[in-house]
Amino acid sequence: MRRFFKVTLMAAATLASATSLSRAGDVEVLHWWTSGGEASALTVLKKDLETQGIGWQDMPVAGGGGTQAMTVLRARVTSGNAPTAVQMLGFDITDWAKEGALANLNDIASAEGWDAVVPEALQKFSKYDGQWVAAPVNVHSTNWVWANKALLEELGIAQPSTWDELVAAMEKVKAAGKTAVAHGGQPWQDATIFDAVAMSTGGPEFYKAAFVDLDPTALGSAQMKETFDRMSVIRSFVDDNFSGRDWNLASAMVINGDAAFQFMGDWAKGEFLNAGKKPGEDFLCFRFPGTQQQVTFNSDQFAMFKQGDAVSAEQAALAKAIMSPSFQSAFNVVKGSVPARVDVPDEAFDACGKQGMKDLAAASSSGNLFGSMAHGHANPASIKNAMYDVITAHFNGEYDSDTAVKEMVNAVSLAQ
Ligand code: BGC
Repeated sequence: MRRFFKVTLMAAATLASATSLSRAGDVEVLHWWTSGGEASALTVLKKDLETQGIGWQDMPVAGGGGTQAMTVLRARVTSGNAPTAVQMLGFDITDWAKEGALANLNDIASAEGWDAVVPEALQKFSKYDGQWVAAPVNVHSTNWVWANKALLEELGIAQPSTWDELVAAMEKVKAAGKTAVAHGGQPWQDATIFDAVAMSTGGPEFYKAAFVDLDPTALGSAQMKETFDRMSVIRSFVDDNFSGRDWNLASAMVINGDAAFQFMGDWAKGEFLNAGKKPGEDFLCFRFPGTQQQVTFNSDQFAMFKQGDAVSAEQAALAKAIMSPSFQSAFNVVKGSVPARVDVPDEAFDACGKQGMKDLAAASSSGNLFGSMAHGHANPASIKNAMYDVITAHFNGEYDSDTAVKEMVNAVSLAQ
């Protein structure tokens, strides 16, 4: 763990010093969309801006979930060289806004009518102190399962809809000599699975109490212990080489038929599509068993770092482009996410995308929509990272479930 942080910080320092200031007329965009599927989606954005005469200076920082990107961002801002625009999640936006680093987008937001089309759950992060500080490009959710259809058929496995059915399915795959769960052992990926397992095990009240309200009773509860126990069950179904594997390589294992399932947010769909695979024919997408009514969401938003007093023409154009309904459709069809605006039709979306949009609307109106802990939408980075440490230490066998529960309570209390 210590080594991971050292390498990350060294990479951050190198990147910070190697990057030049952006030219006028360009936007320099810091993001972590570096996998095949993510890059295809990014191309949609770059092309859109090109048609408006805005140049793109790419500042990619590899590392799913954005942990490394946020370290690089801090180094860039500290050295007085903030990028023009930055992909950001949830509470990270709020933290930067609190520091006064983000440009005010109110003029564009009111000219474009964002208030009326961006749902409250996203506005909570797009706005700080009543002012627009970020433009949301999508809504992802973390409680999905991605499955290889042919492999399930070959093994006579029906789509599992309960935890017990999932365990039975994983046992069947393992007995057949295949990998049941494609996973990459990185803290954010462990936490992404934890999101779904916690929701499935404890239900929405538990999820909210533990991760949003940080209630010590919920954090130390029997449901938390059961969540960790189930994580140990999942741990017994990953392959020997899981440690450190990137999430998109785990998706490739399912795509190639080497593994049956991946528990991952819907950015995974971008990898399947990028490999020419079709939903319902080659792969299945379904909600993590036991979370069919719930959505744990995260939204990629672009925050503009102050370059002067007012938002620059290029920043304004980028924000406007991101929020255009036709762009939100074209981009999210490729990315695997769903639009951040409620007025974008679902026609262009495949079956998984249509389900994603339907689930989101239903969860929102039934009170079952929750910000993802793993992706910075339930609590700020300091607490999220404290949770990551416990979840990962447990997944790697350093803690048993009882110890993990105690550590969870302690870590959250210390991080506050
Ligand atoms: C982002 C996605 C991204 C994924 C993997 C998530 O936090 O919201 O856009 O594809 O991380 O990198």
